[in-house]
Amino acid sequence: MRYLFLAMILGALLVVGMFGLRGHKFSETPVEIFPDMDRQDRVNAQSRSGFFADGVGSREPVAGVLPMGFSIPDAPVEDGDPVLDGFSLPGSYFNSGRIGEHYGDGMPDGLTVDESLLSRGKERFGIYCAICHGASGDGEGTLANFGNMRPVANLHMPQFADSSNPQYRPDGELFEIITIGRARMGAYGGAIPAADRWAIIAYVRALQNAVKKAAADKGAAEPEPDADVSPQQALNNQ
Ligand code: HEC
Repeated sequence: MRYLFLAMILGALLVVGMFGLRGHKFSETPVEIFPDMDRQDRVNAQSRSGFFADGVGSREPVAGVLPMGFSIPDAPVEDGDPVLDGFSLPGSYFNSGRIGEHYGDGMPDGLTVDESLLSRGKERFGIYCAICHGASGDGEGTLANFGNMRPVANLHMPQFADSSNPQYRPDGELFEIITIGRARMGAYGGAIPAADRWAIIAYVRALQNAVKKAAADKGAAEPEPDADVSPQQALNNQ
């Protein structure tokens, strides 16, 4: 027992001798058993850095850097088209849906409504929009039955589908609605690259045309916004 006490006292003296008392200041580098990432090779924002010759920690962008918009470009800028491959050029119709101050209508230069664009649009609409707007765009998607989502816009209503309606939303406005959202609908610009937003718009127009054609086939004067069209009908009618 005596030896145990002695060993404990010696042990305590050894620890205090090596590490000092609490609050004790050392001139030597402290022994750190767990450094806890206290010191890191990084630059704090707005602070100096001895790493760079001019001592400035926050660096300017490298010369020739292009601003990137919501999407990662599809190709390096020297190989690709700066607009179509996803570099934002402020003010371009492709990236804003606007021509000057007004919404444009129709596809931007370089995009043609063909089978590959429509099937891309169909696929993207199925991924991003159908959950709320329904596969046919009638606003009866699965989520329309939950929470405060109802009513989800029925994209076959005249303000969306009939270009002679005073409230009509042209293609450029649809682009903006997808990009930044509107009212209770969230923004999808961060998830859907600009070219895919246009493909979705082309496909929404195809769905609307399918409803109009179904109405014309039935001899109805006004298309029935609740008519159910299948995505395949939309593609067949183009
Ligand atoms: C989470 C559900 C949800 C998703 C996903 C969604 N929407 Fe919507 N959308 C809504 C709701 C709800 C409204 C009605 C907004 C309101 O008027 O408050 C709406 C409205 C709209 C409108 C009409 C806006 C106006 O001018 O009144 C358009 C066009 C539209 N959505 C297109 C799309 C497209 C295209 C997609 C896919 C990229 C999409 N939405 C994805 C819920 C959704």
